[in-house]
Amino acid sequence: MPGLWQDAMDHAVILARKAGEIVRDAVQNDLKIMCKSSSVDLVTKTDQNVEQLIITSVKEKFPEHRFIGEESVAAGEPCVLTDKPTWIIDPVDGTTNFVHGYPFVGISIGFAVNKTLEFGVVYSCIEDKMYTAQKGKGAFCNGQPLNVSDQKEINQSIVATEFGSDRDPEVVAKIFSSMRKILCLPVHGIRGVGSAAINMCLVASGCVEAYYEIGVHCWDIAAGAVIVSEAGGVLKDVEGGPMDLMSRRVVAANNEVIAERIIKEIEAFPPVRDDVP
Ligand code: IPD
Repeated sequence: MPGLWQDAMDHAVILARKAGEIVRDAVQNDLKIMCKSSSVDLVTKTDQNVEQLIITSVKEKFPEHRFIGEESVAAGEPCVLTDKPTWIIDPVDGTTNFVHGYPFVGISIGFAVNKTLEFGVVYSCIEDKMYTAQKGKGAFCNGQPLNVSDQKEINQSIVATEFGSDRDPEVVAKIFSSMRKILCLPVHGIRGVGSAAINMCLVASGCVEAYYEIGVHCWDIAAGAVIVSEAGGVLKDVEGGPMDLMSRRVVAANNEVIAERIIKEIEAFPPVRDDVP
């Protein structure tokens, strides 16, 4: 039976595919690179154009819906999640990868109603993998069902994380300290593809047991969160308890055992929340 928000989700898939074509074409061409919060927090014309394309199209089809978009927020729009149906958009997740032609770039579209995530679409456009999930209806990649790994032993696991774009030495020290502790548990390996959304899809696919990061934004993780939980995984805060979409912190894991084990090793700190103006 189609879900309540099926028409919006179908439209999100169409838009993600269209956006992916634009991103793939742009990878071949010259890029105009700009900086946001720092010299390593990059944005391109493609990020901005793709977000505009998505928002314009959604406004035409669903005029009453709201938006939180990475580039709109960077341009001064508020980052507030209300009870209204809201599209949470990262037009190019993995902008640094995109700029360098490193082949993991996602278009990430999450959708929330009454502050609850209803569906998520992540299109890993260079790999041509369309990840989709709708609350209560399972998670899929190119139409094939996804299931998280059933591994419960941390020392048989791969953990994904990222360095992010904050180069404050104290933050970097904490990031390395957490990584060192997790590496020495020991785990089979630490990975990270440079896109929060795709890292989460890899947890959903069962090839990575967990992904954690401090410093992500709601648009990086909204869609991936639905995909992980519909593939049977769990979402938590880095200090335990439920994930808070606006807190800029996430642990996405195959199960509670693995999540709690890595939470013990993470040196948590509180970045400025997304919903603080
Ligand atoms: C970034 C990527 C990266 C993560 C950063 C994100 P962007 O998103 O997801 O993997 O480490 O925290 O901000 O800026 O490329 O959309």
